[in-house]
Amino acid sequence: MSDKPKTLGIMAMCNGPTFTEKAYYRQITLTGRKMGISVFVFSPRDVDFEKRSVIGYVYRDGAWQTRTLQLPQIIYDRCFIGPSYRNYKPFIEKLQNDPSITFMGHGLKDKWQVYQMIMKSPELNQWLPETSLFTIATLSEFLNQYRAVVIKPMSGTHGRGVVRIVHVNNHFSVMGRNRQNIPFRKRFKTRQDMQKFVRLFTAGSKYLVQPYLSLRTPDGTPYDVRVLVQKNGMGKWQVTGKAVRLGSKESITSNLHGGGKAMPFSTFLHQHFSAEKRLQIDAEVNALIEQLPPYIESSHGPLFELGIDVGVDRKGKVWLIEVNSRPGRDVFRYFDDKTVRHRSMLQPVKYANYLMKERVGGY
Ligand SMILES: Nc1ncnc2c1ncn2[C@@H]1O[C@H](COP(=O)(O)OP(=O)(O)O)[C@@H](O)[C@H]1O
Ligand SMILES: [Mg+2]
Repeated sequence: MSDKPKTLGIMAMCNGPTFTEKAYYRQITLTGRKMGISVFVFSPRDVDFEKRSVIGYVYRDGAWQTRTLQLPQIIYDRCFIGPSYRNYKPFIEKLQNDPSITFMGHGLKDKWQVYQMIMKSPELNQWLPETSLFTIATLSEFLNQYRAVVIKPMSGTHGRGVVRIVHVNNHFSVMGRNRQNIPFRKRFKTRQDMQKFVRLFTAGSKYLVQPYLSLRTPDGTPYDVRVLVQKNGMGKWQVTGKAVRLGSKESITSNLHGGGKAMPFSTFLHQHFSAEKRLQIDAEVNALIEQLPPYIESSHGPLFELGIDVGVDRKGKVWLIEVNSRPGRDVFRYFDDKTVRHRSMLQPVKYANYLMKERVGGY
């Protein structure tokens, strides 16, 4: 056994001592402490590669304290891909290529990359909605084929920029959320006017187009199932929890940032589906979430936690909507399931501990 102190660095986009998810990182720190692991938060931009040190933030005596620390053995990547990601990317890549540092996992790229990867799996592609890169031409094709379509940014989050377009008799109805996540609704008399709007709306970002799936309860509430799967202390994938997110009726997305609520998946199924349907849906969701993580890993490389967005349409058909490699924990805060919440925070630390033991054994 090595006597080296066990260190876990949470890599975040810190702006000095200012960073998000402080409550989550505090929990990780406290859990780590019980397992003999020192946890700190740091920005990849604050690494001194020559000295192999970094300015980090340590949670101690009820406060985050600034320290100069040695580079950690294990890195938990919580750098979210967004407009400022490119300012961090070179530093992140340098850390990823460092032979003495192990990343718990390497984040997935955009929705299109993930879609193309899963499309190659004959077992998994049955759950994917048809998807194309958005252009005015593909939008027209989809509108000819489906009653309603959705466009969404290739690298969006929280339902931002997700828009539904419907061709109704003599007009086009467009509704969704803009890039600031504010809901809007518009009507266009002609296809040209609609296209002009969509062209402006999507300018500067890459979008995808899909059929609009009826992922709503009979009273019109949009919902989806968020499944959190994580690796445990033995390095094996395990389902941490399944929660249903319910959006507001006026919304087309079920993201909680749009002001929705959440409940356990089983409770929801009981409310909305017959016993027979419940069995079928449950079995299908379980098959999907069991096969997906190892498949993505085999194609993409190491991962250790995934937030899987699953849709269930009116007929009970199951759809894979999105795979997040940096899943948020919000959904489990919305209902009082302390076990799930607790486990969601425990698993990454247990898995980091597993990796440290593996490394020591391997050297
Ligand atoms: N093809 C679709 N049909 C109906 N609703 C959709 C479709 N795609 C996404 N949504 C809704 O929009 C939400 C956000 O989409 P998602 O692909 O998960 O992007 P993100 O969460 O990154 O913004 C989903 O949770 C779902 O409620
Ligand atoms: Mg999503």
